[in-house]
Amino acid sequence: MKVLPKKPLSVWRPLNLDDFLLGVPHYPEHVDESYWLRDAERMKAAGFNTVRMGEFAWHLWEPYEGKFDFDLFDRAIEILGKTGINTILCTPTATPPRWMTLNYPEILRVDRNGRQASHGSRQHGDTTSPVLRHHSRRITRALAEHYKDNPYVIGWQTDNELNTTVSESYSDSTALAFRNYLRHKYADISALNFAWGGNFWATAYDNFDQVVLPIPMAPSFLSPGHVQDYHRFLAQATADFQRDQVEILKGVNNKWFVFHNLGNLADIDFRGQFGQDLDFIGFDIYPMLYDEMRRTGGHGVTQALQLDICRSHSGNFIVPEQASGFGSQPAFSTMTPEPGEMRRMAMSSVARGADGLMFFRWRPAHYGAEIYWMGLIDHDDEPRRRYHEACQFASDINLIKNELLGTSVAFDIGIAGADFDNQEAHKTYPMGLPSPQDDATLFYRHCYESGISCGFIHPEDDLSRLKVLYVPHWLMWQPEWTEKVTAFVENGGTLLVSAMTGTRDTNNHIPTELAPVAGLSALLGIKVEEFGRLASPQEDGLFTRFPVEQGLYNTQKPLPACSANRRYQYCLNDQVFDAAHLYEIISHEDDVHELGQWKTRFMEGKPLLTNRAVGKGQACYLTTYLTEDMLPSLTKVLFNKTSVQPVIKDLPKGIEAVIRAKDNHKLLFLINTLECEVLIENIPKGLDIIYNKTIEERVLLAAYDYKVIRL
Ligand code: GAL
Repeated sequence: MKVLPKKPLSVWRPLNLDDFLLGVPHYPEHVDESYWLRDAERMKAAGFNTVRMGEFAWHLWEPYEGKFDFDLFDRAIEILGKTGINTILCTPTATPPRWMTLNYPEILRVDRNGRQASHGSRQHGDTTSPVLRHHSRRITRALAEHYKDNPYVIGWQTDNELNTTVSESYSDSTALAFRNYLRHKYADISALNFAWGGNFWATAYDNFDQVVLPIPMAPSFLSPGHVQDYHRFLAQATADFQRDQVEILKGVNNKWFVFHNLGNLADIDFRGQFGQDLDFIGFDIYPMLYDEMRRTGGHGVTQALQLDICRSHSGNFIVPEQASGFGSQPAFSTMTPEPGEMRRMAMSSVARGADGLMFFRWRPAHYGAEIYWMGLIDHDDEPRRRYHEACQFASDINLIKNELLGTSVAFDIGIAGADFDNQEAHKTYPMGLPSPQDDATLFYRHCYESGISCGFIHPEDDLSRLKVLYVPHWLMWQPEWTEKVTAFVENGGTLLVSAMTGTRDTNNHIPTELAPVAGLSALLGIKVEEFGRLASPQEDGLFTRFPVEQGLYNTQKPLPACSANRRYQYCLNDQVFDAAHLYEIISHEDDVHELGQWKTRFMEGKPLLTNRAVGKGQACYLTTYLTEDMLPSLTKVLFNKTSVQPVIKDLPKGIEAVIRAKDNHKLLFLINTLECEVLIENIPKGLDIIYNKTIEERVLLAAYDYKVIRL
């Protein structure tokens, strides 16, 4: 396995490894040593090449302060290595051992109510603590030095799912670190007071030592500038915590690759220092963890969405933990993949950009907080259907990997994503409105269900491969992004910007000019003169549910249901829809066309959707938020002037069609997410590279089966 030079972060970037990492997270410390050789042989027989180990084993590697013991993992790594299985090690900082929490209680996180974390679970360490950082550097260096010449150790994972259980901390050491961050950022306290709006509610400070952590609802709402900077600080602290480890690991052996496995995306700026320090990122995908069909639309789209969001930060990724079976922790349990479905989910990950994949986990634990989190092997040490599916998947990957590596996932429709500041800006002042991601998810789901290729992309990335770019309510728009999107439109792209975009500066202040600011208004030819709130779809009034990050308002009774003529409605593509969330009233230039209009009440006749021809493309503006109902009409009107087409014409429901490509080399993935066989037609001629068979026009896909076709 070779680590190739890495390219700049981009959604189009393939992984910089010359082989496909295939295997399992493995916990040899959970079973008797007599299992180890059989485990290794079974992994080898499955077609695996890698295990990941050690992320929760700090107490074994350093049983007391300064005393290191590498024996257990040395033996495990050797047995695996001699059998042909390489090892990815993890820095074990997700579980500081008991001697540390006892001797250095200041490393424990403190929650917003002042409650200090206790020993007994995981992720209790506070990554902002200098003391934890000191110990993190010590254990990382000890491990790196010990394993630097071990031929079987090929790379490292930093920590484990940083910030997933909890990302915030309100400890004394966090307050000190926050103040230090602010000193660097502002130098002068008056600059901070300006940024946070110190003259509002007497929130000004005389010096940096007075600055407090933003404790939510203690007793009322906080300044958005204060909250935004706290989250920027948490992201910086997380990146610094990781950077210590990356520098040590790479400094000791620069042939190792280093990545991190993401869980959720709290307080990590992946396109910033955090992602730039790594060779690539990993994403742990558990589609069934979120599988409430009605809410998410099913685990097919949930998985696709999460992985497409992941890819937007830095390109192709690995899946260090791919759900294999039933999973649970004491308070919840997931759905169970049906026969064939685990293999299907794994190939869906590959189609979305995974260039390496590990099934979580080799075997389930017999004790601890995840006793029913199943693996490939059952509790009785027997390989059953999950192991056999993994063998089949590994055989498929080993057949296709040479054609797969180096390709990126193709998509026509880009949704602006991967921007830490915009994601946080919404949370500082949500007002009960959908977040950019909530809104983007509606758009994404519509494309997924229509078989249209869609993904997320940052405006700084290479936009030239897109046909359409949708910007979902990005409050903090930057002037340099206007240049990028203008070039995109001039070259023939369609840009759609929606309500509330470009309404704040980076301090969360409202600018004095009319929105959208930073050059967008000039590009789109519109100005927002008024805005107002509307109820959410299916809700009668605004205040029935009003979730706010800083607290929960749920005091007012629903308003009486609106009668039809009291509703705010608009007309798009000759159809009438109920409006939701927010309206805007805009003025526009003469060369701007109205593609839809508001229809009722004082809004009647005002523009809903506009477009303006710019170069070879069009710049469009939507004066409201998306709803599920209006999306078919919106996309019809919007795609009218583009060459956007589904990947396969008349793609049946439940089938994923995704293309991974490098120049003219194209692989079409057809994946059946359903429990029944499905006939797919209109397939371009190509070679099924798993079965080495020509495919032309149609294919009958068995339940949960897939094809990978070279076009
Ligand atoms: C992941 C985590 C693993 C394991 C798994 C199943 O989020 O990284 O350690 O807990 O979930 O719960």
